Amino acid sequence: MKEKLLKIFAEHSDQFVSGEKISQQLGCTRTAVWKHIDELRKNGYELESAPRKGYRLIRKGDGIHSHEVKVGLTTKRIGHEITYFDETDSTQYTAHKLAQEGAKEGHVVIANEQTKGKGRLGRQWFSRKGTSVSMSLILRPELPPQKTPQLTLLTAVSVVRGLKKATGIDCDIKWPNDILINGKKLVGILTEMQADPDRVNSIIIGIGMNINQHHDDFTPEIRELATSVALVKGKNVDRAKIIAAVLNEFEQLYDLYIERGFDLIRPLWEAHSVSVGTFIYARTMREVIYGFAKGITEDGVLLLEDEKGKVHEIYSADIEI
Ligand code: BTN
Repeated sequence: MKEKLLKIFAEHSDQFVSGEKISQQLGCTRTAVWKHIDELRKNGYELESAPRKGYRLIRKGDGIHSHEVKVGLTTKRIGHEITYFDETDSTQYTAHKLAQEGAKEGHVVIANEQTKGKGRLGRQWFSRKGTSVSMSLILRPELPPQKTPQLTLLTAVSVVRGLKKATGIDCDIKWPNDILINGKKLVGILTEMQADPDRVNSIIIGIGMNINQHHDDFTPEIRELATSVALVKGKNVDRAKIIAAVLNEFEQLYDLYIERGFDLIRPLWEAHSVSVGTFIYARTMREVIYGFAKGITEDGVLLLEDEKGKVHEIYSADIEI
């Protein structure tokens, strides 16, 4: 109901809509309309009401609304089904559950706030309510499990392209999946799967984007390491537009990948990468290796040549440049 009401206001931007008209469109009583308006106000929306004129939306709340995302989508299937939470533990958990229950490819889970956001390597992912994008995308490709890292790389390219389209900013990719701007982290990607030994059932791609955070919105531990679109642009931006732009780019690249494989995606990833063709430290679970990053393999594995000329295949690590 809330989504429908917001859609009505979106269609009448800056104009009054009468209570009568709203009750007709929602198929409910005038008293129910009043209750829904009150609910929106409690969610931070500023609404003006005037006798004989009705209601007018002055300022939106801090949520992300499915219809606002859908307005910007040009996709055929990705993002057509959206599950939205104002608050949830982690969109990854919900997406896994939905996938087990048979959710279709392209279903997206979005949250305005996560209380137990998951990062890579067992870390936590923090984001203050109303500032970031936390979303998980359900995919069902016919792939052997070892190919899934390619989808992480594809997602990174989609995010870079989507952010460029929606905000004009240019970002870099640090292997495997950090999106950086001026060396600071803007976006993190977490890819998880449900699979049998030889077949993937579903892949859940979690994307956490720092959008409207200001310095104090980051925890002290990450304040100097992280950045946001708002900090780069000097103003807050519309999160729904960014989500739509990223999903649009994703579908284009994903369709290309399904049809033609990783060969066309790899050069796009390399064009944005700051961790290939340079000397880096790779901190794996077991050791720290210093060497020259030669490139990535077909499976998205990083090839690192150490000082003795030995080439290491890095599957998972933190990279320092
Ligand atoms: C990283 O450690 O860099 C990856 C962070 C991934 C965070 C996103 S936010 C949406 C989705 N839900 C989660 O709990 N985690 C991912």
